[in-house]
Order: sequence, then structure tokens, then C-alpha cells
Amino acid sequence: MLHSDQPTITFVRENVQVEVPVGDSVRYPALENDVPVYCGMWKYANCHGNGLCGTDRVAVSPSSNTNPLTFMEKFWLRGDRKKNPNMRLACQVEVLGDVNVDTQCS
Ligand code: FES
Repeated sequence: MLHSDQPTITFVRENVQVEVPVGDSVRYPALENDVPVYCGMWKYANCHGNGLCGTDRVAVSPSSNTNPLTFMEKFWLRGDRKKNPNMRLACQVEVLGDVNVDTQCS
């Protein structure tokens, strides 16, 4: 458990906790800590956080500690969210309080 006023992202599968500034995305903290948000070749072929490729799909909860879905997330995640309403794009989700993140690649 970390102790500061900054939100903590807990990457559940990797057992990694990272403190981030309010409003940070999940993408950079994940990449900096070797947490995989891209599956397979998308590690190299992604859009570098511009919301254009839709490949950095992660489950983030609770949603009350995040921003509302962005336009690009509504576009990319319309199918995924029927199965898991917590699905977000790591580059689009803003962390506003402590969250748990479940990555989707093994
Ligand atoms: S990195 Fe391409 S949509 Fe997030």
C-alpha cells in the first residue's frame, strides 16, 4: 500500500502498484513498469496513445474513479463493453482516484 495524495493504479495480474498524478492515463505507467497493455504485434504497431488503434484494451475499476468514456473509446469498445462494462483504452482513460487495472494479454 502506497501513502500519498496521488491516485494509485494497481495492475492486478502483474501485482504492480504505481502512484500517478491525477488525470494521468494508464498507458505510460504500464509501459514504464513492463505491464503489457498490447497483445502480440500491437506492442510495436500501436498508435502511441492517440486513440486511433483501439488495441490497448484493459479493464479499469471502479469507473467512478475515471473520466467518462471518450469518443474513441465509445467507437472501439462498443462490443467489448457488452461483455465487460469496465473495458477502457489505456491511453484514453484518466485516473482520478485509486483504480484496479486488469490487463487482457497473457
Ligand atoms: S494506443 Fe492506440 S488507441 Fe490507445
